[in-house]
Formats: sequence, structure tokens, C-alpha cells
Amino acid sequence: MLLLLVGIARAAIPNARLRGMPSLHKLPVPERYFTSSNDATLPNISTVYHFDQLIDHNNPGLGTFKQRYWMDWEFYESGGPIILMTPGEVNGDDYAGYTTNDTINGLIAQQQNGAAVLIEHRFFGFSNPYDNLTSQSLALLTVQQAIDDLVYFATTADLPMPGGDAVKPSQAPWILVGGSYSGALASYTMVNKPGIFWAGYISSGTVQTITDYYDYFTPIREYMPQNCSSDVQKVIAYLDGMYAANDIAGIKTLQEAFGLGSLEHVDDFASALQDNFWDWQGLSPDSGPNTMFYQFCDALEVKDGINAGPDGWGLDNAVNSWGKFWNTTYYEYSTIVPRDCLETYNPTDIYWTNITVDNAFRSWSWMVCNQIGFYQVGPPEGQPAIVSRILQPIYDERQCVYMFPEVFAYPPQPATAETNAMYAGWNVDVPRLFFANGLRDPWRGGTVSADGLNKPNTTRMPIYMSDGFHTSDMVADNGIVDPTIRVVQEAALRYMKEWLAEWTPGHS
Ligand SMILES: *[C@@H]1O[C@H](CO)[C@@H](O)[C@H](O)[C@H]1NC(C)=O
Ligand SMILES: *[C@@H]1O[C@H](CO)[C@@H](O)[C@H](O)[C@H]1NC(C)=O
Ligand SMILES: *[C@@H]1O[C@H](CO)[C@@H](O)[C@H](O)[C@H]1NC(C)=O
Ligand SMILES: *[C@@H]1O[C@H](CO)[C@@H](O)[C@H](O)[C@H]1NC(C)=O
Ligand SMILES: *[C@@H]1O[C@H](CO)[C@@H](O)[C@H](O)[C@H]1NC(C)=O
Ligand SMILES: *[C@@H]1O[C@H](CO)[C@@H](O)[C@H](O)[C@H]1NC(C)=O
Ligand SMILES: *[C@@H]1O[C@H](CO)[C@@H](O)[C@H](O)[C@H]1NC(C)=O
Repeated sequence: MLLLLVGIARAAIPNARLRGMPSLHKLPVPERYFTSSNDATLPNISTVYHFDQLIDHNNPGLGTFKQRYWMDWEFYESGGPIILMTPGEVNGDDYAGYTTNDTINGLIAQQQNGAAVLIEHRFFGFSNPYDNLTSQSLALLTVQQAIDDLVYFATTADLPMPGGDAVKPSQAPWILVGGSYSGALASYTMVNKPGIFWAGYISSGTVQTITDYYDYFTPIREYMPQNCSSDVQKVIAYLDGMYAANDIAGIKTLQEAFGLGSLEHVDDFASALQDNFWDWQGLSPDSGPNTMFYQFCDALEVKDGINAGPDGWGLDNAVNSWGKFWNTTYYEYSTIVPRDCLETYNPTDIYWTNITVDNAFRSWSWMVCNQIGFYQVGPPEGQPAIVSRILQPIYDERQCVYMFPEVFAYPPQPATAETNAMYAGWNVDVPRLFFANGLRDPWRGGTVSADGLNKPNTTRMPIYMSDGFHTSDMVADNGIVDPTIRVVQEAALRYMKEWLAEWTPGHS
């Protein structure tokens, strides 16, 4: 059995309704969430542990907060490695399965007689230095503090298992795993704090932060049904043409086909049309034809049981069938209340002002607005567009001001260049780091497998690519469904075996 990615992705989406803001947090949720091994003497993997983490690594005098973690030591034998991962920008509760052999983490643990640990990222879930998400509290949410958390945990924690007080990085090899943003964070950690983690596995790690991330839509455009892409491009060109000509009445008529005549801002409408493409990220190698993304393309391209050719059916049919698809299927599926949820110009909306902890969207937006960027916008002129060119980073940057008015008087540009300079981005060059990427992953453009980058693929830092989607290779069963993913997982396990054999105590 495999994961119901789309259902899960949607469940996490109320937040993604916040228009445009990049939402990286889509690691697949392993199925074997609550079960541990058959050995009744082992704790349930859903058991939550707490680590006393420093509130501020620049000022240890501020004291500590409780950082949550989970672990599975069913395969552990003395001398084995500790495999650590943070699920990144999410509440960790659903991700405890990343300590089991449902995932690459557990496969490494199983092969190497290691223990796997999942630690919640600061300011997500219930791992909060302070009990609110004001700008003042979030000042302590930086990439550097998150790196320092991983290092401080590895060098300080006494793990709740036999012998767990003697597995510091000088006593046992530590392996850092991550996917998506947490994959980037793993790379940053090994760059910034060398000598703590002996080896790393990074899946779909978006190491190079990019502000104007129109490339998100490139793999989608290239791998979606061609007729569907052709028709979508016609609708987008039609919208952008009317926008350029200031044809307000024409735009209104187009919006009405989607039941969105009352949306006042055309960029909110353009942003709404992106929604069908967020569904792509939730795809996995075994996603069936009824998955929402394919339902969308079928709605556009299948007419009276006949498939359109590669050019699609043309503009009129596309507008009508896309609008009808929203009316009959998509509103209900995505629980959008048209105007309320799609309009982004009211800064007093609770959406911007909710400072309650466990509001992952707010914490993530803080990181995005400050250091990460990755605004999923329309492409430059001259490139095919399945997303409107009306959408530019300012659309998201304006929302940063609504959310954090105390710190942003004007729409801020995220400091992506600084992030890349600090943590090497695409230039990462550290030993024993394994990169796994997916051909159809919309985040591939930020990874070391970005088109045109030609990053060297070496035994010191191997880069493997499957036909998969976003972080597909982290899920063990995906290797059964897709042989290209199996190749990646097997290579990683081979490298881990080789690298761990080279480790000697005292190394860190
Ligand atoms: C583990 O805990 C979860 C939730 O706390 C529970 O649903 C599940 O039945 C437990 N599993 C075992 C094997 O005790
Ligand atoms: C995964 O671990 C379980 C024990 O928790 C074991 O029964 C199973 O065989 C392992 N799976 C594989 C593929 O080795
Ligand atoms: C947020 O938490 C900080 C630190 O505990 C506290 O000083 C501040 O008053 C809180 N602000 C709000 C609005 O709750
Ligand atoms: C046309 O669209 C249908 C339905 O989504 C798809 O199954 C088919 O592969 C597409 N054909 C081409 C040539 O793009
Ligand atoms: C979708 O519903 C709206 C009313 O909510 C209607 O105006 C519009 O024509 C419908 N679109 C299509 C393509 O039928
Ligand atoms: C505020 O955010 C918290 C945490 O995500 C959530 O439980 C709560 O429902 C939100 N409040 C409102 C009014 O949306
Ligand atoms: C990297 O090199 C290995 C070993 O030669 C090869 O199997 C793998 O496919 C290469 N990766 C890519 C992305 O080409």
C-alpha cells in the first residue's frame, strides 16, 4: 500500500490557500505511522520525547525550550549510526513514520543497525521557544538557528535507548537526512558545521534559494499531458493579453466562467488558476488516473469520450471546460469559498494575524519572506507559460507586509543571495553527501539536478536522479513501484555502507 499523497497534501492546504506563498511542506507521510516492530518491549514510535534546546544559540543565557522528537531503535546495536532528520516546516506528529523502514531513514537504520530520530523544527508544531508567533518571537527563526539546533542535539542529547548516552558524534557516526527544505537544511548544516554529521542523504533538497522561481512550473509543463498544457497555455495567454490591453470587461467575463466574477484583483484570479498545478506536487509514482491533477486534464481534454490531439481543443473549449471543472468538482474538492479565500488584499484577515503556535503557514512565511523566497511566479516573456506572467514576486512580498507589519514597512525582497553565499547553495562541496532528485519534481530547479547546472557527480558527492516527483525516493515502497527509484535507494544504501565502514571513533 502506498501513500495517499493528494489527500494529505490537501489536508495541509488550508494554509496554502494563502495565495502564492511557496509551500514546500509536502513530504509524503509514511503509512506505518503508529506501528513499531512486533517487539512489545520497544516503545510505540508515536511516543514523543523532549529535548532541552537552546532558545538562542547566540545567547545561551536565555535558557532552553522543549523541542519534540521521535525515535525508533528497533534495529539498533551498539556502535550503530544515529540517523537524524527534521521534517522541516510542519508539525512533526504525522512524520514519526520517518523513523521506520517505510522510509530511506529506516532502511539505512535497518542495514546498518542504527537508530532513527525525527526532530521537529523550531517554531513548527509544538517546538516553540516562545508560546506565540509574533514577529518578535520569530526573530529566533533563522536558517542558522535551525542548523545550530541539529548540531546541539547531536552533540548534547542523551537518547532514550540502551547506551543512548554514549552516541555523541565522536562516539558514533551520525547521518543527516532531509527532504525538500529540510534537505536543503541538511546540506547547509554539513557546509556550515563540518565534522558533526559523517554522511548525508538529501532528497529533492532545494539548496539554491531563488526569489523568482518560475521554474517550478517547468517540469510540470514538460511532463503533464501535452494537450492539456497546450490548452492551459492558450487560456493564460488570453488572460495576459487582456491584461496588457487593459480589457477589464474581457477579464471579468473570463473570471465569471470560473465563478470568480466578484474577485476584484486580477492577480488574485491569476493566482487561483495556479491551484490546479499545486496538485502536481502531491503526485507519487503510483498516482492513478483519478488523481485530481489528471481529473483536471481529463476535464479539459476528453470530449464525448475522445481525447484531444497534442494541440488540445482550443481556447473556447478550454475556458469553458476548465471553468466547468471548477464549478462541478474543484470547489468542493479544495473547499475553496470563492471570494473569501481567494482574495488577498485585506490585511486584517485572521489569515495574516493569527499568531497561535502550530500555525505552520505563518512560521514558514517568516522564513520565506526573510531568507528563502522561492516565489512561484509566471515565466519571463518568450517562455511558454502555464501560469500567468501577471504573477511576480511582488504578489507574495506584499503579503509579507500584511503578515509581519512590525518588521516590513515595504514589500521585502528575501535575502536569497545571502542565504546562498552563507550556505553554498549549488556550490555545496562536502564529502559523503548523497543527493537524490526526481525528474518530475517541480522543485528540481533549486536542487543540484537543476537543468543546465551540470553539477559534477562524484563518488565523494554522488547525485542520482529517478523519474520520481518531490521526495519520492524517501518512501521505501516507491522503490517497488518505480524501478528508477529503486536504483537510487539501492545506490544510497551502498554508499552508506561504504562510508560508515570508513568511520572511526573520535572522528568528529
Ligand atoms: C501507538 O500509539 C498510537 C497513538 O498514540 C495508537 O493509535 C496505536 O494503537 C499504538 N500502537 C501500538 C502498537 O500500541
Ligand atoms: C521493516 O521492518 C520490519 C520490522 O519492523 C520487518 O518486519 C520488515 O521485514 C522490514 N522490511 C523490510 C523490507 O526489510
Ligand atoms: C509573545 O511572547 C513573548 C515571549 O514570551 C512575550 O514577551 C510577548 O508578550 C508575547 N506577545 C503576545 C502578543 O502574546
Ligand atoms: C490528451 O489528454 C488526455 C486526457 O488527459 C491524455 O490521456 C492524453 O495522453 C493526452 N494526449 C496528448 C497527445 O497529449
Ligand atoms: C460556473 O458557475 C458560475 C456561477 O457560479 C457561472 O456564472 C459560470 O457560467 C459557470 N461556468 C461554466 C463554464 O459553466
Ligand atoms: C490560528 O492558528 C491555529 C494554529 O494553526 C489554529 O488552530 C486556529 O484555528 C487558528 N485560528 C483561527 C481563528 O483561524
Ligand atoms: C552519477 O553517477 C553514477 C555512477 O556512475 C550513475 O549511476 C548515476 O546515474 C549518475 N547520476 C546522474 C544523475 O547521472
